[in-house]
Amino acid sequence: MLTVKPLSPALGAEVTGVDLNQALDETTVHRIEDALDEHLVVVLPGQTLTPQAFTAFARRWGRPEPHVIDQFHHPEDADILILSNVRRGDRPVGLEDAGSYFHTDYSYLDVPARCTMLHAIQMPASGINLGTTFANQRQAYDDLDAGMKRKLDGLIGRHHYGNRDNLDETTRTVASPLNQDQKARLNWVRHPIVRTHPRTGRKTLYSVSGSSFGIEGMDDAEAVTLLDQLKVHATQPKYLYQHPYRVGDVVIWDNCCLLHQAPLPDRTTARTLWRITVKDKGPTLAA
Ligand SMILES: [Fe+2]
Repeated sequence: MLTVKPLSPALGAEVTGVDLNQALDETTVHRIEDALDEHLVVVLPGQTLTPQAFTAFARRWGRPEPHVIDQFHHPEDADILILSNVRRGDRPVGLEDAGSYFHTDYSYLDVPARCTMLHAIQMPASGINLGTTFANQRQAYDDLDAGMKRKLDGLIGRHHYGNRDNLDETTRTVASPLNQDQKARLNWVRHPIVRTHPRTGRKTLYSVSGSSFGIEGMDDAEAVTLLDQLKVHATQPKYLYQHPYRVGDVVIWDNCCLLHQAPLPDRTTARTLWRITVKDKGPTLAA
């Protein structure tokens, strides 16, 4: 029997009573989608998925898009990006440091991510098992005063791959470095600072940290000051939940209404997750 149990006052719910290896009926998928719409992060514990089963489940939610960092795609399925600190000889088997600053996935693309799914494969013992921290941007928007809501109404953010706060590729909190080919595939894109969720119709702050480098019609210094002010507001502890991954967890998060920040993993204990990113249906702005 499918059960939904909230994980924190800020966001998140655990969904039990579902085996993702089974062919799920429409009703079950809709119930998980509804839980995601309400709680923004859904955790399905105790799953044991093959790459094929994980991808088949993800396709029920939309179109997976392989990550631009193509050297760490899963050998059996390119829709899966391997996140790992494990090395074979001197070669890493996956992407080690990824998104260790507040951001939302694929906001540097014209059609961003609807949701991201992680399947925890190997995890360190508890205590050093720090998980992803999520920040509820829907609540952060709701809590803005009326004057700020008016000011943000209609503003368009200018986005590019990267971490606005750190562009130094020698550090671990930069956006994962790209090679020249990968960089050449990416352009500036536009998204509203306040998005309306395509399913719930609720407003949310969108990507005020990470890929947002400017605001149309504003000089960059003024824009960054405003974006930084919004980021400080939107990442207050009252909006946060950190999920400690357990082996077997499948974690799904909504990229429209959240910022998230990955931990910098301890390098002495193996930690591997598989990631699939499912795209939105279309761009956030009309052409
Ligand atoms: Fe991310």
